[in-house]
Amino acid sequence: MAAVELNGVTKMFGAVGVLDGIDLAIADGEFVVFVGPSGCGKSTLLRLIAGLEAPSAGTIAIGGRVVNDLEPAERGIAMVFQSYALYPHMSVRDNLGFALKLQGKPRAEIAAAVEAAAATLDIAHLLDRKPKALSGGQRQRVAIGRAIVRQPSAFLFDEPLSNLDAALRQRMRYEFAQLHDQLGATMIYVTHDQIEAMTLADRIVVLSAGRIEQIGTPAELYDRPATRFVAGFIGAPQMNFLPVTATAEGKVRLADGTVIATGIDLGGIASETPLTLGIRPEHVVIGGAVNRIEAPVAMIESLGASHFAYLSTPGGEPLACQLAEQPHERPGRLAIALPPERCHLFDESGQALRNASATTASSQLAGIHETGYMIE
Ligand SMILES: Nc1ncnc2c1ncn2[C@@H]1O[C@H](COP(=O)(O)OP(=O)(O)O)[C@@H](O)[C@H]1O
Ligand SMILES: [Mg+2]
Repeated sequence: MAAVELNGVTKMFGAVGVLDGIDLAIADGEFVVFVGPSGCGKSTLLRLIAGLEAPSAGTIAIGGRVVNDLEPAERGIAMVFQSYALYPHMSVRDNLGFALKLQGKPRAEIAAAVEAAAATLDIAHLLDRKPKALSGGQRQRVAIGRAIVRQPSAFLFDEPLSNLDAALRQRMRYEFAQLHDQLGATMIYVTHDQIEAMTLADRIVVLSAGRIEQIGTPAELYDRPATRFVAGFIGAPQMNFLPVTATAEGKVRLADGTVIATGIDLGGIASETPLTLGIRPEHVVIGGAVNRIEAPVAMIESLGASHFAYLSTPGGEPLACQLAEQPHERPGRLAIALPPERCHLFDESGQALRNASATTASSQLAGIHETGYMIE
């Protein structure tokens, strides 16, 4: 097992910069997830750690040793891709043992490693099958098994669940969590799916356009997003964003003139500065008195267990709010409140505004939904 440390890692493809000055320290045994939109550089970062690409600048260390000049095979890591790339003519057993065979390991040792990996992944009954006789989930397990038998010091996974259907992805998420508990190995996992990131990660690294936007635990990113980008990326449905302006009294004003108190100190912000107010749909309070807004309901979205109303707002963007229960009919208008401690503010560059000694939202759990809503 090993810690992984990146310092100033930059990657250019010709004149095009893809990663810019990545600094990141991953602890031994940590499960770190790289998340971000397609094309932000996640796979490239993983391939740099694996040694499949060389950095244009910066150092990569694994287990305290700089590996920039080491071949992938010498780095002691194993990588699992979205496409499983199993050898179609070999049985599962031979697929699992192939890397050890190449290393010239004794037969008995290979057999023991294969049995152990198969038991870990619950595929012992499939050892004599060929890949074509396996389901997608089983193939993915074999691909992971091929990584496990090598006993790498770190596992790298590049969107390993993207090819699976939703039910299987959920099942495999659970298995990845179990696998990490069982092996205790350093795991770096790439996904564009924020739910995978939130459920699996000890820490999440949010990437955007080749830069790190924020590194933190799932709870930190959810409660205290450092930028508007992170705020919008983590959480579903997405955080609501409303255009506001700072008032002379240290509050903010919506487009229709409604004044909102946020609890965020705007001491350093000139009045009339344009800002963005952020609030998550699940933190909007139906009814309520503080920061009250009343607006027409444009749409109700029911997802079975959770229900959302979309309100038309003066700013133009619909404002989503979670309802405690499914309404019998679409309310014409809804009165909502924005709990100050649940409000986020972002400046024009997208940076979150913070109080000097802010406590986290989770430590002041307020925003509990009042039952019922107002119909006019
Ligand atoms: N070998 C390459 N040559 C040129 N550009 C590349 C190469 N590999 C990736 N890129 C570019 O680098 C950017 C990041 O790609 P990638 O790391 O695959 O993103 P992600 O995995 O986050 O979707 C993309 O714009 C992609 O087109
Ligand atoms: Mg990718």
